[in-house]
Amino acid sequence: MTIPSLRADGKVVIVTGGSKGLGRAMALGFAEAGADVVVASRKLEPCEAVADEVRAMGRRALAVRVHVGDWDQCAALIDATVAEFGRVDVLVNNAGIAPVPPSLIDVTSDLFDKTIAVNLKGPLRLTALAAEHMPTGGSVINVSSKASLYPTAFTVVYAAAKAGLNALTKAAADELGPRGIRVNAIVCGTFHTDSLHASLPSEELQSQMASNVSLGRIASAGEIVGTALYLASDASSYLTGSLILLDGG
Ligand SMILES: NC(=O)c1ccc[n+]([C@@H]2O[C@H](COP(=O)([O-])OP(=O)(O)OC[C@H]3O[C@@H](n4cnc5c(N)ncnc54)[C@H](OP(=O)(O)O)[C@@H]3O)[C@@H](O)[C@H]2O)c1
Repeated sequence: MTIPSLRADGKVVIVTGGSKGLGRAMALGFAEAGADVVVASRKLEPCEAVADEVRAMGRRALAVRVHVGDWDQCAALIDATVAEFGRVDVLVNNAGIAPVPPSLIDVTSDLFDKTIAVNLKGPLRLTALAAEHMPTGGSVINVSSKASLYPTAFTVVYAAAKAGLNALTKAAADELGPRGIRVNAIVCGTFHTDSLHASLPSEELQSQMASNVSLGRIASAGEIVGTALYLASDASSYLTGSLILLDGG
């Protein structure tokens, strides 16, 4: 028996929110594993910077400006990818926002719509469009949050959006399974990124958070890469519709 490899040689990988944080870590991780990478987010310049890092590793890269909540822009992202690379092997629905309304009554219509648009509406459309260009063996990786399983007062809309993403993961896996396309979610605990530092600005708050983790620490952004490579590779060929909890225990 051949042991499956985590390498991604020659694969075409789209990472939304690839300009920084977990998305940047996955974009660079996939490039290091041999993939060509499309780096997409709202601000083009930081995407170009990550794309340059990918090229410096000897891989091809494309930077694309996209607001994932806008379905026309989702279509433009997939079109640009197919024009450049001819197909999509892996879609990483990573772009996300987590605004913190003080209470239910403070949730505005605008905050609700934006949170659902980025965390749920975009991933649904991108999954649908990317799957049209995926060969058998394609993989969709949704980046979810532990908040979806353990919602708290201050994560109300975000938690609901990510719970929707979990449901989308299972439903899309069911539809796309017969075509040999797998859809899974990485349900993240706490990782050091800008968005975490915005919600837990002090070291004291971060230490409190770390004390609730079995491993006793917050993850570094790069610690999502192994799970993403696993879900993109044949090593997970019989895994679909799964929510993988990556939370340090
Ligand atoms: N860090 C954690 O502890 C943690 C925990 C659980 C889940 N997660 C999830 O992990 C994912 C990445 O989080 P992160 O901590 O790495 O966040 P981050 O550092 O804030 O990065 C977010 C990324 O998403 C992009 N983005 C935001 N809104 C977008 C939009 N409308 N369209 C396209 N791109 C957009 C941002 O770039 P632009 O500003 O240029 O658009 C950026 O590249 C998110 O889905 C988040 O919910 C993170």
